[in-house]
Amino acid sequence: MTKHDAQNEITREASQAGPHAGYLPGFGNDFETEALPGALPQGQNSPQKCNYGLYGEQLSGTPFTAPQHQNERTWCYRIRPSVKHTGRFERFDLPYWKSAPLIVEGVTSLGQCRWDPLPLPKEKLTWLTGMRTMTTAGDVNTQVGMASHVYLVSASMEDEYFYSADSELLVVPQQGQLRFATELGIIDIGPEEIAILPRGLVYRVEVLDGPCRGFVCENYGQKFDLPGRGPIGANCMANRRDFKTPVAAFEDKEVPSSVLIKWCGQFHRTKIGHSPLDVVAWHGNYAPCKYDLKTYCPVGAVLFDHPDPSIFTVLTAPSGVDGTANIDFVLFRDRWMVAENTFRPPWYHKNIMSELMGNIYGQYDAKPEGFVPGGISLHNMMVPHGPDRDAFEGASNSKLKPHKLDHTMSFMFETRFPQHLTQFAAKEALIQDTYIDCWASIDKKFDGTPGLK
Ligand SMILES: [Fe+2]
Repeated sequence: MTKHDAQNEITREASQAGPHAGYLPGFGNDFETEALPGALPQGQNSPQKCNYGLYGEQLSGTPFTAPQHQNERTWCYRIRPSVKHTGRFERFDLPYWKSAPLIVEGVTSLGQCRWDPLPLPKEKLTWLTGMRTMTTAGDVNTQVGMASHVYLVSASMEDEYFYSADSELLVVPQQGQLRFATELGIIDIGPEEIAILPRGLVYRVEVLDGPCRGFVCENYGQKFDLPGRGPIGANCMANRRDFKTPVAAFEDKEVPSSVLIKWCGQFHRTKIGHSPLDVVAWHGNYAPCKYDLKTYCPVGAVLFDHPDPSIFTVLTAPSGVDGTANIDFVLFRDRWMVAENTFRPPWYHKNIMSELMGNIYGQYDAKPEGFVPGGISLHNMMVPHGPDRDAFEGASNSKLKPHKLDHTMSFMFETRFPQHLTQFAAKEALIQDTYIDCWASIDKKFDGTPGLK
């Protein structure tokens, strides 16, 4: 451990006492943090000379001229400017990480789809080689839409770094613990947490406890934000203070290294002689964060009926059309069901939005069987779906009393765009060919006579 590493460690620990040591609370705050005392200029961004011989550099997450309430940028004070972290680029392929637009010949994305969990890797897979794209939507080149992925990670990236110019990544672990060593600090996450990695942020992913499996929503569009709560008011759902942004941490490491870049759906590699994680101090509002899903405070029906699932939105990425999200990230966690004279599970429906769901753990109330932890379902644009027969019969006939849905956590990536299956999702992943059969035994009850059937 170098003198600087030791100082780094002290700064991370001392920055905040308690369970969130090493993190700063708040969503979209204007943060400031320094790993060495006096590294952060005060009162200005760009002094003639920076302390410690650092270079000042701005990372812009929105156009310079974005409206004030949306404008995001961070000032970094680093050992070398980013231009020294790239050289000549060479193309390379990650055959399982796909981008939109992608419509695979011979594959239909129309229909109800469900997958068993992808097996945990026995071979060595990193964050990059272990990314498996399931669906893509929109167009990465025009910065609309998204992709959904499953990651299977068993090995840490070593002297290898990555950034996506295409996208912001929302990471939803299902198993194992990962470390994201980023330019702006260190995020450790596991199941029941999520992380947001902004577009353009350089990082290395390490396995803390593996093998690891989880889900990624790759957001090509405008950044994730908190949804407006409307008449719910100033509290509940996801609260700003529960988002945690890391304090500054840097590496002064001179070894042969690779930086890999995703740019317009293509992958590029460049070789450098040092670690690019060399930001000693930073301030700004464009930064990675993590969030503990157990702090999400669900709000629901307290007398009758079943609200739209949007009531459980954690994050929303706008599309430019009011109320029509590029992506909503929606959480179905443990909660009380108390509605009277109500069919309590989700109702049958068709939706203009397309819904990709993943199970983190437990049982989902509309599908007691077949949708298992690590598994995925896709109900695409205007494809009908709803409870299976057993869920319908159970919910229609049970004596209604307050009931706790316990030990359950599933989520949805919901987008305004249709989602197209990759070759991998259609042919290699464990798709359940018999999924449609879960509705086969729903019977006709109508016989023309009145009365509850
Ligand atoms: Fe649905």
